Amino acid sequence: MTNADFEKLVDTSDEWITTRTGIKERRIADETIFSSDMAAAACKNALEMAKCSGDEIDVLIVGTVTPDYKLPSTACVVQEKINLPNAVAFDVAAACTGFINGLSIADAYISAGVCKKALVVGVEKLSSFTNYKDRNTCVLFGDAAGAVVVEADDSGSGVQSIFMRSDGKMRPLLWAKTGGAVHPYTSEFTFDGSDKITMNGSDVFKVAVKEMANACKNVMERAGVGPEDISLVVPHQANIRIVEALAKRLKVGMDHVFLNIENYGNTSAASVPLALDQANRKGIIKEGDYIMMVAFGGGLIWGSALVKW
Ligand code: ACO
Repeated sequence: MTNADFEKLVDTSDEWITTRTGIKERRIADETIFSSDMAAAACKNALEMAKCSGDEIDVLIVGTVTPDYKLPSTACVVQEKINLPNAVAFDVAAACTGFINGLSIADAYISAGVCKKALVVGVEKLSSFTNYKDRNTCVLFGDAAGAVVVEADDSGSGVQSIFMRSDGKMRPLLWAKTGGAVHPYTSEFTFDGSDKITMNGSDVFKVAVKEMANACKNVMERAGVGPEDISLVVPHQANIRIVEALAKRLKVGMDHVFLNIENYGNTSAASVPLALDQANRKGIIKEGDYIMMVAFGGGLIWGSALVKW
């Protein structure tokens, strides 16, 4: 969907969306494609690139807040679709940081000897939870998936440090209120947008810039590297202005920041792995590079991971 498509739906303009967010278009999955389908496609590509077969995978972790079903997890559906006979599969519901939280679990499992090979996925079908009558949110979101294979290795590359935090008291800033146990659907429910994503964008914006910068500084400090050592920042693609403000705080030039927001919009948990994969396939990432991944989302929750490629 392009900005011109949204001009027909709500009171907005290409000029407003482009200057306030950096988004020009986003991908919307059709009604027959669900999070498990996109995740399965991303997993197949990741397994192929890693030259790894499905029966080698011990754990499949899917970061998503747009699951196929309330029960079971989307990860279990994906497991069946791509045939991982020796794996345990489960979801992580951490909004836009779902991939980084999943990566942290895979890293901890591998470090503790619980498993040897993990598939970590970020996927969202945000179009299912978007109110296309609300101009404050509908222009922002897109559908996507990204996946990585993480494996035990003693070369010194891989995850160097990870930082994660959340603050649940700020949850009304970004949530979908109706449809859970607290506010279940009833036979009287009439559409008022409360079962879709609602957001106080400007408040979220301020917390996002501050906390993503703190998270990045934390992982750099613990890994003993400085901003000059970072080859590429792969940030959550929520808003170009958030990314620019973050780069400024980190003293990292925008030429060291990977951006694809223009073509995909905010894809929540899929955002970081999607960008990482594109940067990798374009040959931007080289062996030995320090890659900073950082994300922020509904919870509120935020986190960063410093990886040596
Ligand atoms: N078109 C035209 N005008 C709009 C639109 C639109 N699509 N959306 C909002 N406006 C208007 C508002 O109504 C408001 O008008 P008013 O002043 O008459 O009330 C005006 O623009 C300014 O609104 P703000 O919300 O202050 O605009 P802001 O510059 O903050 O940009 C945005 C809004 C893009 C949402 C920004 O705040 C943002 O990106 N926030 C962070 C989002 C984020 O990072 N979310 C976390 C991840 S998402 C997840 O977890 C699923």
